[in-house]
Amino acid sequence: MTFSHIFETNLLFELKTDHTSYLFRITRFGHPEHLHYGRILSDAEKEEILARDHGTFGNTILYDTEDDKYCLDNQPLEYGTEGRGDLREPSLIIRTKDGSSTLDLLYVSHTVHKGTIPMKCSLPVSYGAAETLETVYRDPVTGAELKEYYSVYPKEDVITRRCVLTNGGDEEISLRKMMSFSLDTTEKDLVWMTFGGHWANEMNLTEREIRAGTYVHSSRTGFSSSYANPGSILRKKDTNDRAGEAWGINLVYSGNHYTSVSAGPFGFTRIMSGILPENFEQNLAADESFETPEAVLCYTDQGLNDLSDRFHRFVVNHIVRGYYKGRIRPILINSWESFYFDVNEKNLAELAKTAAGLGIELFVLDDGWFKNRNDDHAGLGDYETDARKFPHGLKTVADQIRDLGMMFGIWIEPEAVNPDSDLYRAHPEYAMAEKDRKPVFGRNELHLDLTKKEVREYIKENVCRLIQDLDAEYIKWDMNRQMSVYTGEKAHAYILGLYEILEEITGRFPKLLLESCASGGNRFDLGMLCYSPQAWLSDNTDPIERQRMQRNAGYLYPVSAMGAHASASPNHQTGRVTPLSTRFHTAVFGAFGYELDLNRLSEEEREEIRAEIRFYKKYRAVFQWGRSFRLAKNEFYKIRDGIAVCAVFGSAGDNPTVYAAELEPDAEYRVSTDTEECGVFTGKDLMNGVPCGTLRKGEAFTKKDDSVVFVFEKIFTDKV
Ligand code: DGJ
Repeated sequence: MTFSHIFETNLLFELKTDHTSYLFRITRFGHPEHLHYGRILSDAEKEEILARDHGTFGNTILYDTEDDKYCLDNQPLEYGTEGRGDLREPSLIIRTKDGSSTLDLLYVSHTVHKGTIPMKCSLPVSYGAAETLETVYRDPVTGAELKEYYSVYPKEDVITRRCVLTNGGDEEISLRKMMSFSLDTTEKDLVWMTFGGHWANEMNLTEREIRAGTYVHSSRTGFSSSYANPGSILRKKDTNDRAGEAWGINLVYSGNHYTSVSAGPFGFTRIMSGILPENFEQNLAADESFETPEAVLCYTDQGLNDLSDRFHRFVVNHIVRGYYKGRIRPILINSWESFYFDVNEKNLAELAKTAAGLGIELFVLDDGWFKNRNDDHAGLGDYETDARKFPHGLKTVADQIRDLGMMFGIWIEPEAVNPDSDLYRAHPEYAMAEKDRKPVFGRNELHLDLTKKEVREYIKENVCRLIQDLDAEYIKWDMNRQMSVYTGEKAHAYILGLYEILEEITGRFPKLLLESCASGGNRFDLGMLCYSPQAWLSDNTDPIERQRMQRNAGYLYPVSAMGAHASASPNHQTGRVTPLSTRFHTAVFGAFGYELDLNRLSEEEREEIRAEIRFYKKYRAVFQWGRSFRLAKNEFYKIRDGIAVCAVFGSAGDNPTVYAAELEPDAEYRVSTDTEECGVFTGKDLMNGVPCGTLRKGEAFTKKDDSVVFVFEKIFTDKV
């Protein structure tokens, strides 16, 4: 059977995107042998791979006495199980009633489907695949059946994988580990790029050279987490932003996750990713199934910028959905760093009036608006407005904001409860806790038990009522504590409950702009991006720190997904003093907004913001939807339809050279900044590099932490 992207000949499968190829075949015994994931191969190269024979070594275990050359430990495979000679890290572990963990999954059939196959459980999945290959394997003894799904996204050069295990036997089996994907590669000289940190210090890049042994990157906090983002990149040692091979991995999942890279003794490196297996046990009765989250794989041989570009396009086209897909995002003002919990009718009205006057489009009322919420000790779980702070009700506030020409949005933390709340007093059983143990707290709160239907219904009902009552057009969905010791399957069931809630709310309010947040960047992941087109990247709004975080997040996620705000100086998290322009130049390379009391600024500063907003509105399609590049000297660069925006950051006395990318060498470009005209330069000159001071017709940087955003606009002439 031949489809346009999935080819099968004698049980040799090739999945092709525009520039990549994924190759595996079913061996003579029925195991799927991984052959290649990388660039498109010539027929001769393919023949060479197909002719490889792996054989056995010394004391390794033979799979079957009929063949003294077939040893699973020395086969590159599409998944790994226990009991038949593969002694590497398994990607799938079961335990039967009689204590056996042996699983021998052998090919049964395959089907090619058009498009994506939806999940049966509430896990979100990417959409719009060209084709999906379904392969089925069965264990002859337990009857366990594994379905592997491979979806192909040709234009973005992405292949996704996920699997489903069904208990096809009569006896219950216990599932102990099930990865979304696994593969064994023969690639050498690999460096693993992972991203992690902690609260207010998200997205630090770690690079590990892969040598013998197992390297792990995982989260056990209940979140996808700021400790370890689920996305990572394996690159060849000599790969850089502009050249070389790299493989990206991510998960459409927001809970505990696990990725490992293990270099084994026989020249294969096993890579796998999925739900964290630690503490995980899911019992499957006869005919019951378990579905893994979807893993996203991407390959390039054109350098890391190209890999990022492919990932960005995948997120924008096949993860983000609904009204705000590809749509311009409004400039917002958020009340958190403006007033913290001290919000009231008067200060909001004053802030809103000034914000509207400056051109801001969306007003977000953050924490502190509901009853007893004067600090983080009380009130979570209840949805009643604080009548002391808002004597005329929140609807009046929301309407006044709309009268000023802005949209209205509100903060909620619906998954949590404070013991000092009406909800907890009425329903202590709604909170997650362990029998006979004192609860452990994070930010004075407990999780609501989203594995319980009545709790999910409580949340859905109250959130929907709130949105409806206020006609809210934006919700900031926060979650501020980590999970503690609940078992792996409970933590997973919690995430399934969360997705069910989000699916229903976004379905009922299709035009709602949802921004997810979890103490900053604890849920910056593809699972949440299926519901919320943007996510708050970090509670740290210091522009210097943010430049690193946004740059690193950009390896995997597009600018339109990264909530980024210009805040006060000195910065509230670091105390650093920076120019307003530097805060602006940083935040525009994110889903842009302000988060400070505008009324505390001088008239000159407000005038500066007015001009910033005019500038941003003119070019925001480029900032939000342009292609991104990391360049040698320039921190941020985006280009779309012949217009490039380029942020350069420096310090007093600096005169860095500015390099452009992807311009037409012979075309002329009008160069300007947000405050000045710089002249006309050719694409060639700009790409070869021009000192910042030359572009600005003078000295480049004069102030500490100074910055500039250049715009290169192609001049269209009548010449053909
Ligand atoms: C944590 C978030 O990351 C902040 O932006 C803010 O919304 C606070 N929670 C409110 O409690």
